[in-house]
Amino acid sequence: MRLVVSSFLLFLVFTGAAIHAAEAWRPWPTLFLNVTKPTTISGVPDPNLGSSKKYEGSSEFVHLRYHMGPVLTANITVHPIWYGAWIPSQKRIIRAFIRSITPSTGAEAPAPSVAGWWKTVRLYTDQTGSNITAVVRLGSEKNDRRYSHGKRLTRLSVQSIVRTAVSARNRPLPVNPRGGFYLLLTSPDVEMEGFCGSVCGFHYFTFPSVVGYTLPYAWVGNSGGRCPEVCAYPFAIPAYVPGRQPERAPNGDVGVDGMVSVIGHELAEMASNPLINAWYAGGDPSFPTEIADLCEGIYGTGGGGAYTGQLLVDGRSGGSYNLNGVGGRKFLVQWVWNPYLKYCTGPNALDL
Ligand SMILES: *[C@@H]1O[C@H](CO)[C@@H](O)[C@H](O)[C@H]1NC(C)=O
Ligand SMILES: *[C@@H]1O[C@H](CO)[C@@H](O)[C@H](O)[C@H]1NC(C)=O
Ligand SMILES: *[C@@H]1O[C@H](CO)[C@@H](O)[C@H](O)[C@H]1NC(C)=O
Repeated sequence: MRLVVSSFLLFLVFTGAAIHAAEAWRPWPTLFLNVTKPTTISGVPDPNLGSSKKYEGSSEFVHLRYHMGPVLTANITVHPIWYGAWIPSQKRIIRAFIRSITPSTGAEAPAPSVAGWWKTVRLYTDQTGSNITAVVRLGSEKNDRRYSHGKRLTRLSVQSIVRTAVSARNRPLPVNPRGGFYLLLTSPDVEMEGFCGSVCGFHYFTFPSVVGYTLPYAWVGNSGGRCPEVCAYPFAIPAYVPGRQPERAPNGDVGVDGMVSVIGHELAEMASNPLINAWYAGGDPSFPTEIADLCEGIYGTGGGGAYTGQLLVDGRSGGSYNLNGVGGRKFLVQWVWNPYLKYCTGPNALDL
């Protein structure tokens, strides 16, 4: 989940505060965090670590641990719920990103690709040694154009929206507790508790008492026109970072291009920590720091602090990106934590 200050600082700032959603709060550490490039990890000197730019995000504070719960080993089917006002071109960007994770045969994108990005997520296993699935598919979708639960949403109302979608009389979304992932996407006119001030997205699971099933879900909001400098960074830059020019959005839509990275973030965390009892750092399961939280703001080699890392630039559109997707699409998606290397990695790393 995306917060505006460092996860590590948050442990201090919010200890005892009213935030106890086990939802994956998304800190935005690298803008604020004094990102260290230590020569030791877990106190053990590592001769391979030095000042190399390879160690984006590495920190002696990171103790990512496995807490024995399940990861998503079954094929994942993403069910978008389009809440509010969505235009077809915006939906196409997000669908193309989801389809790019496991492209159909013959449609693979050139490296560095979204499919390559998912390979880091696949390194996570459950206690039986089974990896996170290679297969992520776009499933059936639901439109909620009339704001079934209003324009001011709370964390709990997300579950009600999922319930409405799976129990609709007209073309309900299928109930798929094995690999279904329900992705609530809200248009810029929809408010969410904490949106912009503290979060850009979160994931969790539905309660049987509300929905009748335990289904993993995520919410991601379109921040365009609302707070793109918070949730669509680096396509917009906060005022407290002087002298930085925003990057150009690769699909020409700052809000939606910004959502793509948040969707990737939530998907990676959902797969590795679907019930908030598998992979996370920190001692507090009601406030986990998950595999994408650790790499927020890092998109390429050298990333850290207020620097995104090395990006690619599309010669045609001038858009900045780091991953190729299906149909010639380009996306900018943050890296995720690699459990073996113990730093953030992505397929566009210059030294891979
Ligand atoms: C940031 O890191 C540097 C070098 O490790 C250190 O000297 C400095 O005190 C740190 N600043 C803060 C605010 O922690
Ligand atoms: C998962 O996806 C793979 C590849 O598309 C397919 O061969 C397999 O049958 C699927 N497994 C299940 C349980 O649906
Ligand atoms: C599965 O996980 C193991 C352990 O992390 C890793 O060594 C292996 O490369 C992973 N397999 C794939 C296909 O990612």
